[in-house]
Amino acid sequence: MQRRRAPDAYAGAEAERSQARFAPEEVPTHVAIIMDGNGRWAEGRGLPRLAGHRAGTENIRPVARCFAEYGVKHLTLFAFSTENWTRPEDEVTGLFDLLADVIEIQTRELHREGVRLRHLGRLDRLPDSLQASIESSVAMTKDNDGFELSIAFDYGGRDEILQAVRRLLAAGVAPDDLDEAKLSQHLYTYGVPDPDLIVRTAGEMRLSNFLLWQGAYAEHYVTNACWPDFDRAEAIRALEAYRGRRRSFGGVLRDNTD
Ligand code: FPP
Repeated sequence: MQRRRAPDAYAGAEAERSQARFAPEEVPTHVAIIMDGNGRWAEGRGLPRLAGHRAGTENIRPVARCFAEYGVKHLTLFAFSTENWTRPEDEVTGLFDLLADVIEIQTRELHREGVRLRHLGRLDRLPDSLQASIESSVAMTKDNDGFELSIAFDYGGRDEILQAVRRLLAAGVAPDDLDEAKLSQHLYTYGVPDPDLIVRTAGEMRLSNFLLWQGAYAEHYVTNACWPDFDRAEAIRALEAYRGRRRSFGGVLRDNTD
């Protein structure tokens, strides 16, 4: 009788073959994702929008694990924007509850895996209990030096720059002393390298106020898949697209034969 390979072993071997096709320098250090299309995913199935957001929490771990296996060091997820407050109240509070659940259920395991959690955005407008659980998960994992997972929640790029400028003015920084490095120190992402690749799901081609400063030279990748359908295969397709890009950062690309 012919022996069958266990599905897991097969997936592992496939994954290894696929990873081997990437040289380390072909893998983005930092991937940032605009997780769009949860509402459309839910509506297409006759479900309430929140069911789409809930489904969109379930692929976070496998997608993060996939990127980590390929050598990505930082993953940033845009989960709630400064503009999302205008959504119906039950959707807003539903998103707060989902973040609280994700933190409660996943922080200890992520901590055991050496993952450092970060929060990007404003804390002051979130419910007290959510602020406390964000702060405790960030504090618990702060010394981890493995993969870094940043959740942008009540985050807006313009607001981030505005808050940074306010802090600089309050500190009395003179105009001539202000430079890009100093401003960067006051952004939520201080210490995190700029994103190399910004992925957006559900086919939209907009930044929507995400990482405006940090994304100056990021490569963009858009997939039609709604966020809950963004799986390992989608993540690998995004990495493959990135590998094909030639980045000049405003300079001139020369090949090695010059
Ligand atoms: C955009 O889809 C998605 C959001 C505004 C929320 C993203 C949130 C999650 C994936 C779940 C929560 C995640 C964490 C980490 C708590 P949309 O609602 O705009 O979709 P649509 O454009 O199809 O309506």
